Amino acid sequence: MIFRLSDSDDVDSMLIRSDGKPQLLLKHSTRCPMSRLALRECEVAANGTDGFDLCVLSVIESPALARLIEETTAIRHESPQTILFRSGRAVWNASHEGVAASAIQKVLTNMTEEHAGRFAIRATTESDGEWLRNLLTDRWGATLIVTRGKAHDASRLPAFLAVAGEQRLGLVTYRIDGNDCEMVSLDSLHEGIGIGEALIKAVVSEARQAGCTRLWLITTNDNLQAVRFYQKRGFSLVAVHRNALVESRKIKPQIPEVGIDGIPLRDEIEMEMILSP
Ligand SMILES: CC(C)(COP(=O)(O)OP(=O)(O)OC[C@H]1O[C@@H](n2cnc3c(N)ncnc32)[C@H](O)[C@@H]1OP(=O)(O)O)[C@@H](O)C(=O)NCCC(=O)NCCS
Repeated sequence: MIFRLSDSDDVDSMLIRSDGKPQLLLKHSTRCPMSRLALRECEVAANGTDGFDLCVLSVIESPALARLIEETTAIRHESPQTILFRSGRAVWNASHEGVAASAIQKVLTNMTEEHAGRFAIRATTESDGEWLRNLLTDRWGATLIVTRGKAHDASRLPAFLAVAGEQRLGLVTYRIDGNDCEMVSLDSLHEGIGIGEALIKAVVSEARQAGCTRLWLITTNDNLQAVRFYQKRGFSLVAVHRNALVESRKIKPQIPEVGIDGIPLRDEIEMEMILSP
């Protein structure tokens, strides 16, 4: 995605987004031919990848913001200049002809490889309890998750964690019911390095071992990223349960009326993966 930065709130949002996805800031001047080339290079690097967001700051319209960036990062102001942010920190920068698509792609590839393979999957233990309850409350408003009109306390379900040393990077909770296994929640705290997929694989393997023939899940009508993500990983759409969240809210009032991107939160989308033996 491309964002325009015009005030300090935009900078704060960029830094927050950088927790989940690298943010490439371009300090750009429409009056400078070299800057136009730099913008083009950034667009080429962004083309066809969802690996980073491009954040464009006009140095002519917002000189104070350019100074704020210089103060925050301690990187001397240049124009054109790119600064790559990851987890709230500036991790790479380039200016003038150094702003090249190939250089940007290389640094992003290195970053991904650096993180890839750095996490392991393990089942949760009692000592994860507090972290798990905090995460579920933070991400889903409560540990209670309602699907198809039934409430499940996800903090008490079997679950897997993605961990890097002491750091917990992701959680999947699931429940087995006869031949069916429901994936009740899935959260990745470090997106785009394979944690989500690895957690799904852990549940698939567990469900198979338990003799399940179907893995299913519920997501909501606003969560288009999840619908895309699950379809690419072997799930298909089974049903749209229209207005299901009206009933769910009676059990869990914390469910908001409005979801991702301002989409009214209304329907449950049921997805499944048939598990071959
Ligand atoms: C949906 C969600 C769980 C995905 O988690 P994730 O850890 O980002 O998942 P992955 O890293 O496995 O995959 C994400 C993308 O990164 C890519 N990726 C994974 N590892 C990569 C690597 N080493 N290098 C480059 N790209 C990589 C994947 O290909 C995938 O892209 P694609 O969908 O275009 O194929 C996560 O976005 C999330 O927590 N969302 C909020 C909660 C939510 O909506 N949960 C599901 C609702 S029920």
